Amino acid sequence: MTQEDRRNSPVAADVLVIDDEEDIRELIELSLLRMGLACDSAGSVAEARALLDARRYRLCLTDMRLPDGDGLELVEFIQTRHPGLPVAVITAFGSIETAIRALKLGAFDFLTKPVELKGLRELVANALRSREDAPADSGGRQLLGCSTVLAQLRQQIERLARNQAPVFIHGESGTGKEVIARLIHSLGPRAKGPFVPVNCGAISPELMESEFFGHKKGSFTGAATDKQGLFQAASGGTLFLDEVAELPLAMQVKLLRAIQERAVRPVGAHGEEAVDVRILSASHRDLAQLVADGRFRQDLFFRINVITLRVPPLRERPEDIPVLAAHILARLAEREGVAPRRLSAAALASLRQHPFPGNVRELENMLERACALCEGDEIGLADIELHPTEGLVRPLPRHDSEAVEDAAADSDDERIRVLRTLDETRWNRSAAARRLGMTLRQLRYRLHKWGME
Ligand SMILES: Nc1ncnc2c1ncn2[C@@H]1O[C@H](COP(=O)(O)OP(=O)(O)OP(=O)(O)O)[C@@H](O)[C@H]1O
Ligand SMILES: [Mg+2]
Repeated sequence: MTQEDRRNSPVAADVLVIDDEEDIRELIELSLLRMGLACDSAGSVAEARALLDARRYRLCLTDMRLPDGDGLELVEFIQTRHPGLPVAVITAFGSIETAIRALKLGAFDFLTKPVELKGLRELVANALRSREDAPADSGGRQLLGCSTVLAQLRQQIERLARNQAPVFIHGESGTGKEVIARLIHSLGPRAKGPFVPVNCGAISPELMESEFFGHKKGSFTGAATDKQGLFQAASGGTLFLDEVAELPLAMQVKLLRAIQERAVRPVGAHGEEAVDVRILSASHRDLAQLVADGRFRQDLFFRINVITLRVPPLRERPEDIPVLAAHILARLAEREGVAPRRLSAAALASLRQHPFPGNVRELENMLERACALCEGDEIGLADIELHPTEGLVRPLPRHDSEAVEDAAADSDDERIRVLRTLDETRWNRSAAARRLGMTLRQLRYRLHKWGME
């Protein structure tokens, strides 16, 4: 069949293979044929574009170096013109940077040359599964919000769900990092496999190796039976390393090895076991800074941080507050079997002004309290306590100058300004105070007043 015939043929092929080397094209076509898949092939960017626009495919596989351009162009073209189509790239051995660039542009996976048939078959099976199994939504909790940043985040999540690259989710506490990790898992080809979240800050350092990799009976005091590790438990699915910055350095080395080798050795075992997991991680901390400070290993950082998703704090997207509040109120009402309560205009307006250091979780807690306090079906300004911790904080001895301080500290703009600066200085109070043009005592006073010490 000529290219022209193919373009006009009504029979859709499954896979489009783009490579300028005839041998490689044939090899790939043959192995796909054995999987029962029909292929079209193209030898250049121009040919591929024409075929992509003319016919429907279930998967596209492209070489990087083509006579009239490169594979990255095609990845971009597909993202804009055929966004649902999974695309994988074939890169020269050792050019991992190119592979990463492709993943960032939206490719779902990559193969290195020489192409191994086993890897090829796995990749293809994954790609086709991800299309067929991906549910319309995660089934679990959705990522709600109508701000532009959130819409972009949702798009990124969908794209990242299709590929297998490690993703580091960075955001303040309560911004939805775990919701996002679960979405990436449940929208991708591993959705039917397990999602195993692990709070790296909550495991005692002595038990960490056994928790992650498992152990053999009798390998240490207390090891009464063989135990499976988290890696094995997540096999075929996703391991979510929450609070990853809290990993002790010694454990970071072992984790890096497991991720690189795709194998783990249970404590007390002689051999290694192969594991197939996708790694997602999250932290509220700035990992790059921890690397600079020597508190996080750079090699592990590069491994887990191939792609970073930044989750903006709620105060940077107040447009999301009404949607989130409505859903939270509906959920609370459903739980109690009553009609959802409404927020008064004044209450909503003041929520939109609140800086929410605890982000969406704080909003949830605040609304739950408000529902408990509120008598009618409308939550008013009086029902939402915007400084819930204030009552718990012992008041400071007052000096006259503090009355002036009080007035300044009461303004929301001020709070936002202070919180931003603290974020920027990673909560280095002296540095923040300098930047804000106040004394350390003044800054402390404000934080104390806001219940944030
Ligand atoms: N965009 C969102 N849509 C719906 N619910 C959200 C959203 N963001 C956060 N939530 C809810 O807020 C709460 C906190 O979210 P999550 O646990 O994912 O945050 P986190 O970033 O992991 O926080 P932490 O750092 O404290 O662990 C959860 O109940 C979650 O369902
Ligand atoms: Mg979390």
